[in-house]
Amino acid sequence: MVKENTTATSDNVVWHHATVTRARREQQNGHRGAILWFTGLSGAGKSTLAHEVEEQLHQMGCHTFVLDGDNVRHGLCGDLGFSAEDRVENIRRIGEVAKLFMEAGVIVLTAFISPFRADRDKVRAMVQPGEFVEIYCQCSIELCEERDVKGLYKKARAGEIKHFTGISSPYEAPDKPELAVDTSRPLDACVQQVLAELARGKIIRG
Ligand code: ADX
Repeated sequence: MVKENTTATSDNVVWHHATVTRARREQQNGHRGAILWFTGLSGAGKSTLAHEVEEQLHQMGCHTFVLDGDNVRHGLCGDLGFSAEDRVENIRRIGEVAKLFMEAGVIVLTAFISPFRADRDKVRAMVQPGEFVEIYCQCSIELCEERDVKGLYKKARAGEIKHFTGISSPYEAPDKPELAVDTSRPLDACVQQVLAELARGKIIRG
């Protein structure tokens, strides 16, 4: 059963029900649609982990797609910056797009800092229980800063980047994520932890 959106402000807009339903798509695919929501600091390994989980799922024959922070900010969210207000809108749009992918029967993996708990919870509330899997990529700011893959922490410390998460803008860690992954460990161990959770939640077959 699709949880219908209730935020439409236009009049005379009527929800159209498809004959090719999500259930039929999922049956054909051999797995459930779901949103795997990776959250964590910049440099915590969200994208790396999401892409490697996708690689493994793809090899298992699953239908997948990764929505990645840096990529989406070139297009869909290209008009948004990093103020608190813009981050809220960024996550709202990603949530809506992720839900569409899920309804298409896809396992969609999102890799965004998504620093505010309330915004992540709003996406969770848009779908049915069990469909939103919050995966906290847990990594100390010290390690993220040490890695500093994109050289952004250095710039943020020098005051060249405003509102940088963990430095001059907050990150609210999840209270009760479906999964907390310690991303200071080897990638393969983290991937296996995610796949085990998907099997446990019956999104994929064990
Ligand atoms: S979110 O906070 O709105 O969820 P998102 O995941 O889309 O952020 O984008 C984060 C990426 O943008 C970071 O990995 C980093 O490469 C880049 N970035 C640029 N400016 C900032 C900033 N002020 N704070 C955090 N990340 C930034």
